[in-house]
Amino acid sequence: MKNLFGLSNAHLMLKKTCSNFANKELTVNASIFDKEHKYPKDQIKKMGSLGLMGIFIPEKEGGCGLDAISYVIALEEISRGCASCGVIMSVNNSLYCEPISKFGSLYLKERFLYSFANGNNLGCFALSEPGNGSDAAAISTKAIKDEDFYVLNGTKAWVTNAYEANAVIVFASTNSELGYKGVSAFVVPIPHKGVFLGKKEIKLGIKASSTCNIILEDCRLHKKHLLGKEGQGFKIAMTTLDSGRIGIAAQALGISQAAFNESVLYAKRRTAFNRPIAKFQLIKHKISDMALRIESSRLLALKSALLKDNKSKFTKEAAMAKLSASETSAFVTHQAIQIFGGNGYIVEFPLERHFRDARVTEIYEGTSEIQRLVIADNILKGV
Ligand code: CAA
Repeated sequence: MKNLFGLSNAHLMLKKTCSNFANKELTVNASIFDKEHKYPKDQIKKMGSLGLMGIFIPEKEGGCGLDAISYVIALEEISRGCASCGVIMSVNNSLYCEPISKFGSLYLKERFLYSFANGNNLGCFALSEPGNGSDAAAISTKAIKDEDFYVLNGTKAWVTNAYEANAVIVFASTNSELGYKGVSAFVVPIPHKGVFLGKKEIKLGIKASSTCNIILEDCRLHKKHLLGKEGQGFKIAMTTLDSGRIGIAAQALGISQAAFNESVLYAKRRTAFNRPIAKFQLIKHKISDMALRIESSRLLALKSALLKDNKSKFTKEAAMAKLSASETSAFVTHQAIQIFGGNGYIVEFPLERHFRDARVTEIYEGTSEIQRLVIADNILKGV
């Protein structure tokens, strides 16, 4: 990726730092975290010290003050080492810190941003519910005003990081008659009276990151915990997901790159019919198709990050990047197992983990079907 896209020396140095960290701390441990469903506490702490947990959050708010391109570069490298660390980092950066930085009051920033952006605390984002996912506006969780307080009741689902999180952004309806215009966002501390965690989900992949329901039962919050204005919640969720999708694109790229690197090494080493399998045209085709799709997806991810850095609209490009990178990771990890043959199917090699980790990138932060809708709607609107 040398100087592609006019990457600065600072970008290249960041890539090197993250790459070294991933090689030393993540690649070697990722299969253990996966097998033991173990939250990588020490590694996330070290990522915080490297400034990776609030990478584009301003320094005065506890972050690193870098740009979105840096985020893509760093997150790809981290995810190449461990896809679970990638999603933990992505959710804290994009889904938690960024909306508080953009829409939060001074009170919210002081209490719920600084120590999260510097990696001492961890945040999460609760939009989906057991009864709604893709139709994000169909929220049934209610927040009823009671003088200076809101009382929240409902269940949020599929919340990444929830088990380790110290706070969560919850989307709830403050006026169900208004549909999406009646959705509001709240910053809820964890633990807090009336906030309960559901069982930890047992998942196909990204097993070192926790996922569970958050149940709100008469959770009473002072109005200072409202993020943005009442009724602004849906727009906050949508703009937050635009950025989040750049992050998931970078995560998927990291998974693809890991599987690709392993495949190239293996193809050169493994012999069949008296020669390395890399000498066979069918293997070469696979390698070139994998490389082509990874590189195209990386360009889309960098383009969406560049647009974001230039303060241009990037909804369509972020959806394209996420769609392309996630489908690429499914393709690349599938092809990688094919190159490895039986060795790709057993846990002694990392390929089956990459294959499992890749799958969720086509689902969370908007399914591939939703990305296609977002892309087409923006094109039809002339954006
Ligand atoms: N930025 C700003 N505003 C936006 C927007 C965006 N990207 N997208 C839509 N809006 C605005 C629209 O302009 C409109 O506002 P106005 O009426 O003022 O113009 C309003 O929002 C409603 O827009 P739509 O009519 O397009 O909304 P919709 O109800 O049809 O839904 C959708 C659109 C794109 C399908 C949306 O529901 C969506 O993104 N769904 C997927 C949700 C998702 O990604 N969920 C993942 C949850 S997080 C997660 O995965 C868990 C985790 O922890 C990782």
